[in-house]
Amino acid sequence: MLSKSLGAAMNEHLSKELYAAHLYLAMSAYFDANNLPGCAAWMRAQAEEERTHGMKFYEYVYDRGGSVELMSLDKPPATYKSALDAFEQAHEHERQVSQAIDALYAQALEEGDYASQVFLQWFIQEQVEEEKTSGTLVETLKMVGDSTASLLLFDRELGSRGSSGG
Ligand SMILES: [Fe+2]
Ligand SMILES: [Fe+2]
Repeated sequence: MLSKSLGAAMNEHLSKELYAAHLYLAMSAYFDANNLPGCAAWMRAQAEEERTHGMKFYEYVYDRGGSVELMSLDKPPATYKSALDAFEQAHEHERQVSQAIDALYAQALEEGDYASQVFLQWFIQEQVEEEKTSGTLVETLKMVGDSTASLLLFDRELGSRGSSGG
């Protein structure tokens, strides 16, 4: 059974994953509004993936005898300065999620909760991928710079690849 404090922390993290879905969907809307359908599709796929992450926590909490309590989600930004700005914010958010997962793992370790450690290991690996992907896209967009032609190519590339995460 989950300890009360780890259960509460897992609940908090469940809402963090749902906020990530909310944030990516806001970014998708921004790209749709700015005629970059490839970026919009990529962000939407990310949003769906974050929702599945949230649901993994949802199920895990019940599997371990806890109960789920949803929290209200902050309003994500509706506009961004540029594609680079949106992807930089996405990357920064992934780094924050990684830190939150690490903190959960540290707590599971401290409590000697082996099942939670195994559960969280999947997320630790997932975050390595997420940070790598978003970091690479940020670097690519820095190379794109002010070139509209390159931005359109980038958009087409993202549209054809869809989500690259797991
Ligand atoms: Fe996630
Ligand atoms: Fe993510």
